[in-house]
Amino acid sequence: MYSLSEISMAREISAAVVNVSGRQRMLSQRTAFFCLRLVCSQSAAEREKLRSELLDAIVLMEKSHKGLIEGDPSVKLAGNPSKEIEAMYFEPPLNLDRQLRDYIREVRALAAATDAELTKDNPHLRYIMNAASTELLAALDAVVSQYQKESEAEQQAIDRNQLALVEQSCAATAAARARTLELQQALRDLQEAQSLLVQSEKMSSLGQLLAGVAHEINNPVTFIYGNLSHAINYVSDLSELLQLYRQRYPDPGSEIEELIESLELDFLIEDLPKVMSSMKMGADRIRQIVLSLRNFSRMNDAEISRMDIHEGIENTLLILHNRLKPQAGRPGIQAVKEFGNLPLVECCAGSVNQVFMNILANAIDALEEGMAAPARSSGKDNLCPMPHAPRPTPTIRIRTEVLRPDGVAVRIADNGPGMEPEVLAQLFDPFFTTKPAGKGTGLGLSISYQIVVEKHGGTLKCLSEPGQGTEFWVELPVRHCPSPASGTESQSDRLQPAARA
Ligand SMILES: Nc1ncnc2c1ncn2[C@@H]1O[C@H](COP(=O)(O)OP(=O)(O)OP(=O)(O)O)[C@@H](O)[C@H]1O
Ligand SMILES: [Mg+2]
Repeated sequence: MYSLSEISMAREISAAVVNVSGRQRMLSQRTAFFCLRLVCSQSAAEREKLRSELLDAIVLMEKSHKGLIEGDPSVKLAGNPSKEIEAMYFEPPLNLDRQLRDYIREVRALAAATDAELTKDNPHLRYIMNAASTELLAALDAVVSQYQKESEAEQQAIDRNQLALVEQSCAATAAARARTLELQQALRDLQEAQSLLVQSEKMSSLGQLLAGVAHEINNPVTFIYGNLSHAINYVSDLSELLQLYRQRYPDPGSEIEELIESLELDFLIEDLPKVMSSMKMGADRIRQIVLSLRNFSRMNDAEISRMDIHEGIENTLLILHNRLKPQAGRPGIQAVKEFGNLPLVECCAGSVNQVFMNILANAIDALEEGMAAPARSSGKDNLCPMPHAPRPTPTIRIRTEVLRPDGVAVRIADNGPGMEPEVLAQLFDPFFTTKPAGKGTGLGLSISYQIVVEKHGGTLKCLSEPGQGTEFWVELPVRHCPSPASGTESQSDRLQPAARA
């Protein structure tokens, strides 16, 4: 593995070697040419100049030769020739080192020759011209091309190495990305598990509370209800007896006459059965409420049973009754029910009640928020009309219908303020809430999503737009079939722009 500085150093050395070896070849040709001109020159001054140029060229040749073999940091030569290059320098057939030394020696000898010796037959000149055009030239060509070959091979090795490095780093990046995704998934799973725990703890406390309250009320109510029918009979018997007395003794005396008058006995006798029967109706209603509370508190049962969806909705509305009533500073919230003819649905009734509870409680929160907020939009039926226009009645509309071939749909719509797209996009995320701390945990809808989609293989969708209200769609299969591919549905599939509440 090379570092960046090593790579750039290797590239520089390799370029220097190729350059310097190429220059050796060029110098051999140039010196031969100067030697020929020296011999031919008629001018003493020119000859002096040529001698000096020759000596300079020879010094450079010697320096380059030494640098190539032993190294020369000033021109970035490393001086570590390969075995092949060494053989070219020091072994037959090329013996380039010897050839160069001989050549340099001959050039020096010619440069030192007297003017008289400078003839075309000069043996030094003949040697030089011969070497420069045959043996030495061929040897220099061979070594230059070997240097080039080795340099190219080295470049390729570096490139291959770089490629391997890039591949390794790509693989490492991909592995890191996969690990990050795994960790993100693990975090999501953890959050979901945590949210389930928190919510089920919350619901279980509510269930326990309701079951306790229902149990406590149940005993005295049964007592009252059971005795009321006896009391009605006793009252009826007593009033019969009284009538008989009055018939038999029409003149009971002034004291009794006065009491009869002050008691308005005739009215009392007429009204008492009505009072008793309305007491019976009230007790009956309390019994029903207690029964609903007990049914609702069954929500911790994880059992699958055949559920009457309408009963679940009614029970939930009953629990929320107090929140729907008019309150200081706001009118009551009307719950409009448009129930279809639904079959019993195989599901975990407690969990499905929990979904209705979450959605209805959110709708009430939203309607309250809408009523508290200043009017701001021109939506026709929603709670934020044009300034000065009367606000429409806060309404929750619950529609149920059969879905062909074998499902049911419950649509719960409110004419509250609706949602901004950013809120809608995070609606089902665990812990997402826009409510103040202590009011919302942000778990209601994420739990509801798990219950409907993952536990029951149904669908949970939300349609909402600011100023247009909100509608939730809960779709459940009639036969229980938990979704195996839970989580395959993307968030955008469950979130759509609003339909009117
Ligand atoms: N009907 C609705 N109208 C407007 N906004 C809604 C409605 N239902 C839900 N939301 C928004 O979705 C957010 C998340 O709802 P969710 O039920 O998951 O949590 P929460 O109600 O804030 O808290 P929790 O239900 O845990 O007490 C809410 O804070 C609210 O901003
Ligand atoms: Mg909620």
